[in-house]
Amino acid sequence: TIMDRLLGVRSKEKQLSQVLGIDHCLIVAGDSANLPKVLSDMGKLVNETLDIILPRGENVIAVMGGTTMAEVADSLTSKLAEQRHLIFVPARGGLGEAVNIQANAVCARMAAHTGGEHRVLYIPEHVSEQTYKPLLAEPAVKEVLQLVDKSSAVVHSIGGAIPMAKRRNMSAETIAMLQQKQAVGEAFGYFFNQMGEVIYKIPRIGLQLHDLERISSVIAVAGGSDKAAAIKAYAQLAPQQTWLITDEGAANLILKGV
Ligand code: BG6
Repeated sequence: TIMDRLLGVRSKEKQLSQVLGIDHCLIVAGDSANLPKVLSDMGKLVNETLDIILPRGENVIAVMGGTTMAEVADSLTSKLAEQRHLIFVPARGGLGEAVNIQANAVCARMAAHTGGEHRVLYIPEHVSEQTYKPLLAEPAVKEVLQLVDKSSAVVHSIGGAIPMAKRRNMSAETIAMLQQKQAVGEAFGYFFNQMGEVIYKIPRIGLQLHDLERISSVIAVAGGSDKAAAIKAYAQLAPQQTWLITDEGAANLILKGV
């Protein structure tokens, strides 16, 4: 029956939270690696979760980029902005993503779908550190960074280390180093191994991994059998209060012990 199935899913969610050592896991049916519709189900669940955990009033929500986040953006609804003033801000300066999946673009889409506001971080994705540093003194950049500092919610995804390094056009040397050190996952521009040890970090401003500890609502949304190892590894770095929104494709593999 549906009830049995629901109870089955619920107990799997509990088990997954225990295995990963984080407070909440929610699992949607299917494997987003094979079926794109599963990703939008995860997006709907993010919308419902935010509606439950965000307090009334002003909420600054820091968001990351990526294809998962772009999908999540399209699943958010105006229900979220009822009794809330939402401001979406990019969590970290450019990480080398294509324009349509950059955090700036995701913020704009989230604002459009909910009826909230958004801010843009005017920092190019691919620049040297010499070019990048002075930009941080610009008032328009500073203002957004101050908002990021005030954020009370973060929504981000998790990726596989090598696919993310390649997508971001990182140098052949860096990719070889990540392979040699057995990086399995990436989140926020941090690359880590299966023990959750950070191996490399893209030097960018904005939210840092340790900042997550003080943020009350943290949602990590990542699924697909191809991301199971990355999710499991990231859980060791994730703050306790994290809500992981995932799918059976990833959850079943993690529970089997990838
Ligand atoms: C982003 C994260 O939200 O999603 C990255 O900041 C992560 O760290 C990426 O790797 C995953 O991208 P995708 O396209 O697989 O959703």
